[in-house]
Amino acid sequence: MELNISETEQKEITSFFYRILIPRPIAWVSTRSKNGVDNLAPFSFYGGVSANPPIVSLGIGRRAGKQKDTTQNLLDTEECVIHLASVELSEKMVKTSAELPPEIDEFEIAGLEKSESTDVKPSRLKDAKVALEGKLYRHLEVGNGPGDMLLVEVVRIHIDDGILDERGRPDPSKLDPLGRLGGRQYASLTKAWEIIRPD
Ligand SMILES: Cc1cc2nc3c(=O)[nH]c(=O)nc-3n(C[C@H](O)[C@H](O)[C@H](O)COP(=O)(O)O)c2cc1C
Repeated sequence: MELNISETEQKEITSFFYRILIPRPIAWVSTRSKNGVDNLAPFSFYGGVSANPPIVSLGIGRRAGKQKDTTQNLLDTEECVIHLASVELSEKMVKTSAELPPEIDEFEIAGLEKSESTDVKPSRLKDAKVALEGKLYRHLEVGNGPGDMLLVEVVRIHIDDGILDERGRPDPSKLDPLGRLGGRQYASLTKAWEIIRPD
């Protein structure tokens, strides 16, 4: 089959797109509002953009035309902490996706402990194996929604020593990242192998 985007209903495009861009890593993003309330929410429209300096992108939709709390906080304070969602914390991660008003702290809703961050104000998730402290690099309105694309420059990386391999690098199997498939489906790493690139 083929989909000609200009002749396809938006509902169908969305559904196919979510099921094709897989598996997606999940950025579990902590921000703090200008009033000092912590916020935590998952986003799987997430990816690396540059390594020098390290920059990642977040694609965040709007709710009835209104920016989500994460977008609002990032635009107000320009700071966040992005945690890599793991299989171990997947149920709690999904709890933090509830659409709650900005005065509610999702760390408390999901029963998650906080640690202080070093270079930014938003709290860090104590049990996350990887946390990226970041500062807003650019903001773009994207698409017909429109939605928001936020580029975040990573200024500090926290890694649990327990997930490092014998050479001191993150070991994918110990990291146990959660992958998002379409809708409610998730996946874990079941097999990893090497392929040598040509010169
Ligand atoms: C695994 C997962 C991934 C998600 N990815 C996205 C995403 O990439 N973009 C988006 O706008 N919403 C995404 N959502 C929905 C948001 O998490 C949800 O709208 C949340 O309430 C936003 O919180 P906030 O208003 O506190 O920022 C995702 C939800 C889940 C469970």
